[in-house]
Amino acid sequence: MSSAPAPQPIQPAPERLGVLLQGMGAVGSTLVAGVLAVRQGLGEPIGSLTQLGHIRLGKRTENRNPRIRDFVPLAPLDGLVFGGWDIFGGTLYDACTHAQVLDQTLVEKLKGGLSEIVPMPGAFDPNFVKRLNGTNVKPGTRRDWADALRRDIRDFKAKNGLDRVVVINCSSTEIYVEPGAVHQTLEAFERGLDANDPQIGPSLIYAYAALMEGCPYANGTPSLSADAPALLELANTRGVPVAGKDFKTGQTMVKTVLAPMLKARMLGVKGWFSTNILGNRDGEVLDDPESFKAKEKTKLGVLDTIFQPEVYPGLYGDLYHAVRINYYPPRGDAKEGWDNIDLFGWLGYPMQLKVDFLCRDSILAAPIALDLALFLDLAQRAGKKGIQEWLSFYWKGPMAADGLKPEHDLFIQLTKLKNNLRHMMGETLITHLGTEYYEYPSEGN
Ligand SMILES: NC(=O)c1ccc[n+]([C@@H]2O[C@H](COP(=O)([O-])OP(=O)(O)OC[C@H]3O[C@@H](n4cnc5c(N)ncnc54)[C@H](O)[C@@H]3O)[C@@H](O)[C@H]2O)c1
Repeated sequence: MSSAPAPQPIQPAPERLGVLLQGMGAVGSTLVAGVLAVRQGLGEPIGSLTQLGHIRLGKRTENRNPRIRDFVPLAPLDGLVFGGWDIFGGTLYDACTHAQVLDQTLVEKLKGGLSEIVPMPGAFDPNFVKRLNGTNVKPGTRRDWADALRRDIRDFKAKNGLDRVVVINCSSTEIYVEPGAVHQTLEAFERGLDANDPQIGPSLIYAYAALMEGCPYANGTPSLSADAPALLELANTRGVPVAGKDFKTGQTMVKTVLAPMLKARMLGVKGWFSTNILGNRDGEVLDDPESFKAKEKTKLGVLDTIFQPEVYPGLYGDLYHAVRINYYPPRGDAKEGWDNIDLFGWLGYPMQLKVDFLCRDSILAAPIALDLALFLDLAQRAGKKGIQEWLSFYWKGPMAADGLKPEHDLFIQLTKLKNNLRHMMGETLITHLGTEYYEYPSEGN
């Protein structure tokens, strides 16, 4: 049995951490407003594992259960400095007002802090997001955008006196792009930037700029980004952690709890039909079939890996799985997601399970984005680089090493995350074996 490598010493948490958001729409503005609200005592960071979660250490009888944020050195909420890019102008106060996620009376109370944050012009190609046409955009070629984004990061650091910055992609879902030659190696990618290759979408350029500046990068969207082989090469050679992709918030979070439950009991599944209505700008962008295709990929991927139809053909070999997203403006950010599951049990008798989740998209996504910023900064200070599999917990489509199937089961992901934290801090890993509580001294003779 191979044992885990020894953990590296962790650099102390910074007092201030920069968080740059690629896209400051509903999720981005709700994250920033939420952190400002918590700082002012106007709300609680509900949904954030880093802020509310505890972690068990040692045996169950030891009663050691500190808060995660007291156990690992994380940047404090008071020390977060936000900035970012968007293709629409205005301030974050305007973005919050437009997004209509938060109550306007709360937004008004936060107006001072929100108005100070003005999105920088975005690197944008309308071919990648067909339903939007922003005006706050960078001129020039792809190479010019990459250089400008790198300058933006350096200027943001200098202006705010920051040593450390994390970049998080919260921008609109781009069209689905099958990785081609230009995405395979760093050399090909850089040549592509110089040639203004139209196969290089904006999200790849943001990720490139972040990694070149040594900033950890998280991809909250399904767009091709830090998961392209060229950028993974860059992340590994520069020693920068990356994580992605597509925040696991509502329907897929539920799916990655229910599917392992059915499989654990060896119950078969014939059909899983998932549909959604949502009316925010994300819903509008996903109304374009090419952007939806990228989303469909990450949403559909989870069941196949969990059910393993190749191992259990009789239970899951004929599964019909469909996912739909319908743009329905009256609901705004308050999404409704339905699931109909046709399952079968003992002797093949059919049953049905229905889920109707009346959720709030950005309310679920904001704490995830916060956790990722803090954990990715921790990962970098702990000497980690490349794909951070221990953060699979947060993703619909977790990145994994070549040839390795990602882990989708939410509770295995949580166990993995917590064991990684224990490992970083030199604590015993928890195997849940349980035999240690039942050992009695044998009678000598
Ligand atoms: N629960 C969730 O909300 C959730 C879950 C998983 C993934 N996501 C993904 O997160 C992303 C953000 O969701 P949202 O609800 O905030 O959407 P949104 O439309 O409100 O915000 C996206 C913002 O990105 C901006 N943008 C687009 N292209 C850009 C570019 N090239 N550079 C800079 N800015 C750009 C848009 O102008 C917009 O303000 C989407 O891709 C969405 O699919 C959201």
